[in-house]
Amino acid sequence: MESTGMLSNLQKKIYVAGHRGMVGSAIVRNLLAKGYTNILTRTHAELDLTNQEHVANFFQKEKPDQVYLAAAKVGGIYANNTYPAEFIYQNLMIEANVIHQAFSVGVKKLLFLGSSCIYPKFAPQPMIEDVLLTGKLEPTNEPYAISKIAGIKLCESYNRQYGQSHGVDYRSVMPTNLYGYGDNFHAENSHVIPGLIYKLHHAKLKNLKKVVIWGSGNQTREFLHCDDLASACTLVMNIKLSSYQEITSDMLSHINIGSSQEISIRNLVLLISEVVGYRGKIEFDLTKEDGPPRKSLMSKKLSSLGWKPEIKLIEGLKATYEDFIKKLKK
Ligand SMILES: NC(=O)c1ccc[n+]([C@@H]2O[C@H](COP(=O)([O-])OP(=O)(O)OC[C@H]3O[C@@H](n4cnc5c(N)ncnc54)[C@H](OP(=O)(O)O)[C@@H]3O)[C@@H](O)[C@H]2O)c1
Repeated sequence: MESTGMLSNLQKKIYVAGHRGMVGSAIVRNLLAKGYTNILTRTHAELDLTNQEHVANFFQKEKPDQVYLAAAKVGGIYANNTYPAEFIYQNLMIEANVIHQAFSVGVKKLLFLGSSCIYPKFAPQPMIEDVLLTGKLEPTNEPYAISKIAGIKLCESYNRQYGQSHGVDYRSVMPTNLYGYGDNFHAENSHVIPGLIYKLHHAKLKNLKKVVIWGSGNQTREFLHCDDLASACTLVMNIKLSSYQEITSDMLSHINIGSSQEISIRNLVLLISEVVGYRGKIEFDLTKEDGPPRKSLMSKKLSSLGWKPEIKLIEGLKATYEDFIKKLKK
């Protein structure tokens, strides 16, 4: 353990904002597994991060050493389309409050979690970090994406203004589609994997002869288990500043986190029906839209740091299904 009379790394007070969410809880698991002993958390009910005064009081009292910002108002297409004001307002407030108050009490290291929806709708695939702000966003989640871009720019601006004078080092990561423990399982309002698990599990229980999936199933997507994401997050937070600066620049400072493994929705559906044990027929409704034919991230910067994902999709899906079953029993 690194110790020089100062706090050893493992004893540092680390605030994980959003620790009950899928990403925040995975980061907490990863930190605990690495031996970190002083993890600071607050539930949404204990601390509403959109409230500037409460966030300021919290940081004044607790003075953490590092912050992982994984709290956000998150939702699918329907929620984003129905509540755009809540998505842009709450996320801007959470980011501005946490990043500024962290700075105010002298936090030097912060990791901001963004999302791949920050990239233009028609960006070449796989998307590299440089395509940020080069084209129009997907309209359905534009307000959310703009708030996430603002989060990256907040981190960059604090680095540019206070990096030299105050040692501020705020980093951003952009994960691909995630799945895993703590996912939100719902028929319509979920991400792809939990939505399919829900649908196919209930089709099995009801002995349905067929399940209809919207679109051709030919479109490919990239998925990453949240525990792999967490390992990438703690790595990016802890690499030396010089190594981070080697692969980023002052005004293009975010790093993609993807698995570099793409799968067609058709094959994903077949894999999940195998995991769930659904034996009926799968039909693809070609009258419904597929969305973009391919969507994935180029994660070369991250892999240049020596990181690679460890959880195979089939293993991750089995564990996620077990988690779903556990939740049903609760
Ligand atoms: N899931 C994905 O596929 C994915 C992919 C790429 C990027 N990301 C990014 O990862 C981050 C976390 O996502 P997630 O999937 O972990 O979302 P999540 O499961 O919904 O977790 C978000 C957490 O933030 C908390 N939160 C929301 N508003 C808050 C507020 N005003 N004050 C305090 N806490 C608040 C939520 O608490 P309550 O539930 O109590 O409100 C929840 O615990 C987001 O920035 C997201 O963009 C996720």
